[in-house]
Amino acid sequence: MSPSPGETVFDKAAARIVRGVDELRTALAPHRRAGARIGLVPTMGFLHDGHVSLLHAARSECDVVVMSLFVNPTQFGPNEDLDRYPRDEERDLRLAAAAGTDLVFAPNIAEIYPDGAATTVEVDGGLTSVLDGDPSRRGPEHFRGVTTIVAKLFNIVGPDVAYFGQKDAQQAAVIKRMVRDLDFPLRVEVMPTVREEDGLAMSSRNVYLEAADRIRAVALSRALAACEQQALALDSLDAGLAAARIELAAAAIEPEYLEARDAETLQPVDRLGVGRPVLIAVAARVGGARLIDNVLIESIVD
Ligand code: PAF
Repeated sequence: MSPSPGETVFDKAAARIVRGVDELRTALAPHRRAGARIGLVPTMGFLHDGHVSLLHAARSECDVVVMSLFVNPTQFGPNEDLDRYPRDEERDLRLAAAAGTDLVFAPNIAEIYPDGAATTVEVDGGLTSVLDGDPSRRGPEHFRGVTTIVAKLFNIVGPDVAYFGQKDAQQAAVIKRMVRDLDFPLRVEVMPTVREEDGLAMSSRNVYLEAADRIRAVALSRALAACEQQALALDSLDAGLAAARIELAAAAIEPEYLEARDAETLQPVDRLGVGRPVLIAVAARVGGARLIDNVLIESIVD
């Protein structure tokens, strides 16, 4: 018998940790046969309240909650922070259990990328070569790494619903396109960005911020708020973006990008449309951290 959504299936005190693909499939099989709804929260660990909100959403909607914990090397560029990416598996397991996670899938690299692995999944369509995917930034290879691991997790876990954060808006748009194009039989749920009290978007990479930079970093969310406010007040994206630039400059932050794009296609937009949300996305290096954030501006419907 499968439990009702909101109930954990396994031991509440400690989420069960599974390292192997076969072991995970075996653990899930009886629940799948019983018609349980399986929710997946993919993570790279070092959990914060943003991840926890995804786990809570999964817990409230699904019968079985699986969290993956895997720092995926293929989505890091050669000059990125793979080696120093923060890790604390014990703490992650505690937080996952407290949020009602049933199974934590924490494979090692060889389990996911066996010798000779030669297949990748790539979304094109202009979604992965802009913003973070611009070759001068993380590049399309970053998203190829993300879509490859996420496609593998979908095949390994077979979730009915997969949960992602709006903070990684481009990642969410790319994954939604992959799910649509490759007919993955699941729903992608994108949950709102969780912020610190002062507005900074939660991110595992915030640990790289030294005290003074932590204060400056709030300018990103301030800039996005100013952008939304001005854009709506003046019905002008240009005015909104100008307001955002002023906020960033006041904190001596030079953005890598600050752009208005269609939230689904990621094509550039220059005005608030009718009926389609506009994504304002920003990326900037603040001290030792490269931060991203975004806001969705709902269209003014005439
Ligand atoms: O958003 C992340 O943490 C990662 O990109 C993801 C989706 C877990 C894939 O490694």
